[in-house]
This record gives sequence, C-alpha cells and structure tokens, in this order.
Amino acid sequence: MNNLSIIINKLSQQHSLTNDEYKMLLLECSKDDVDHLARLARKETEKIYGKNIYIRGLIEISNYCKNDCYYCGIRASNTSCDRYRLTDDDILECCKEGYALGFRTFVLQGGEDPALTDDIICNLVSKIKELYPDCAITLSLGERSKESYKKMKQAGADRYLLRHETATAEHYALLHPSKMSFDNRIRCLYDLRNLGFQVGCGFMVGSPEQTPDMLAEELKFIETFKPDMCGIGPFIPHVATKYHNYTAGSVDMTCLLLSIIRLIHPCVLLPATTALGTLAPNGREKGILSGANVIMPNLSPASVRKKYMIYDNKLSDGDESASALDSIKNKINSIGYNIITSRGDVYKPKK
Ligand code: 5AD
Repeated sequence: MNNLSIIINKLSQQHSLTNDEYKMLLLECSKDDVDHLARLARKETEKIYGKNIYIRGLIEISNYCKNDCYYCGIRASNTSCDRYRLTDDDILECCKEGYALGFRTFVLQGGEDPALTDDIICNLVSKIKELYPDCAITLSLGERSKESYKKMKQAGADRYLLRHETATAEHYALLHPSKMSFDNRIRCLYDLRNLGFQVGCGFMVGSPEQTPDMLAEELKFIETFKPDMCGIGPFIPHVATKYHNYTAGSVDMTCLLLSIIRLIHPCVLLPATTALGTLAPNGREKGILSGANVIMPNLSPASVRKKYMIYDNKLSDGDESASALDSIKNKINSIGYNIITSRGDVYKPKK
C-alpha cells in the first residue's frame, strides 16, 4: 500500500488524521483516490441515513446586515445592495407554501439585521411552532449573545447555523473587519451547543488567501468540534467586494472535502450547497455523490430572491426553488437517492 492508501484507511477506521495527513490528502489524491473516498463517504452516509436526502425550506428573511465581511455581497458598506426585510406575514406565507410542498424544516436565514430583535424572532418562532408543531426550525441569524440564543431556544428553535468561515484566527482577521472576532464566533458556536441547539458550522472553500494548511486546520476543527451540521461551499467573488477579481473556489475540492468530512464525522448532516449548484450545473448531485445528504431549496418570495445576492449569479430559481420540488426529486432519484420529507434531525449515537 502506498502512503495515501494508508492515510485513507486510517481516516475511514479512526475518523481522525494529523494536520499533515489531511494536507497530503488534499494535495496528492489522484482521481482514483477521490472516487474511492467518495465511495467510502457514501457508504458511511448510507449506514446512518440510508439513501435519504433531507430537504430544508430556506427563507431569507432579511438582507440588512451590520457586518462588513469583506467577501460578502450583502455587507453593510455595499450601497448598491437593494435591502429588504420580510414581514411576519410574508414569512408565514412561505411556511404555508413549504408545508404544503412537504417541507418539515424551515430555515430562517438573514444578515445581522439590528431590527430583528429577540422579541421579533421569538414571536415568529413561537407562531411557526404553533402552526406547524411537527416542523423543526433552524435559525441562521449570525452572532448574538448567549441570552439571545437562550430566548430563541425557549421560543422553540431547534437548530442554529453559524458558519465559522475559517478555522484559522489570522485568516479570519484578514477576511473580516477588526470589529469582528474569531473568538466571539467560536464562543457563539459553543454557547449554542450548550443551550441544546443542533449546531451547524461551516466554511468557504477557496476563500481569498486560503492555503492547504488552513484547509487541514478546517478538517481538524470539524474533527474536534463535531458539529451536527456543516455547510461548505466554494467561495464565489461578488462584484461589489474587494475580492471581486479573485478566482472562485473549486467544485472538485469542495466535493473532496465533503467526502473527507463525512469520513471524519459520519453522522454530520451535510448540505450540497447553493454555491456548489451555482458553479456547476450538476453541483448538487455531485455533492450528494461525495457524501452530502441535505439540500436546502429556496422558499423565499420570488420578489426578493435576487436581492439575497451574497455572491455573483447566486442561483435562486429553477431547481433551486422549493416550488420545483418534483423536478428536484426526479434528479435525486436519478442518482439513486430519495427525498425525505421528515424533520431529518441529526443522528445521535446512544451513549
Ligand atoms: N462566496 C461564497 N460564499 C459566501 N458567503 C458569503 N459570501 C460568500 C461568497 N462570496 C457564505 C458565507 C456565509 C454564508 C451565508 O454565505 O460562508 O456564512
């Protein structure tokens, strides 16, 4: 056996590698190794979740954001961004449509909009829970205080997505203004976990100035933090950011990382993200064949979809749209998987 085969074996048996071994996998895998890792990853997914692909209805509730992340199209200083905020009625209408289509998880995602106070969010969460007690609610509203997260949990929210963006503090400092801190981001993730949320973290692949060492650090972070969900997608430049002429991340590298993450932490819920679908016509299917098992079609009202433009050409219609669920189902079936309309909670092994 060559070195790489030994490393792949070790990964699939021990779910852990050194940073140097992760780096070797990322840099030296042949096409055959990549295919082998994807097969192993699919096998792990199937052991726990079968051939089921979970769907989440994504509702982008506001594109106002007080932050100024240098890579993001809805950053505060982008004055060309046409801002919107959905009303409770708009959001409940999206849930109604989503419920009828079969969605049993609603993801309320937004920028860090100061107008979205704890009271507003908690009220909304309670209303949705009252109307749809069999549905899970995932929030993705950025960094907040532990008190705020606690109120949201008490109001009935089940899960929280907060991508850490990069696991290297210096890289974090490069991609964000000095007002934001890596430590606070990580504090949020641990607070959320301690409050009983199912927690999702995640990062961009090929983000500006990212190195293979940093990607190895990402994998070590996943190994240590063991998130319930992990959202990764290629970085895609946005015209109104300072990284507008940077190269986008790679679909193949994203898929390789999906396989490795699946092998590190087999029960993680792993979405095939919109960014993957934006860069490759069959990106979502590729993601699933690499070990992803979640898709998050867009349930936002058509009138605002194009306004949540975190990167150029972000998909929001066609098969990205929740209303295209039949077509999405057919595509997923054609690669041997099934869309499942249950809540799709994370699998927690019994202790
Ligand atoms: N390319 C890809 N992903 C991006 N995000 C923000 N900007 C970009 C971009 N230019 C991701 C971040 C953020 C999520 C909402 O979208 O990871 O957490």
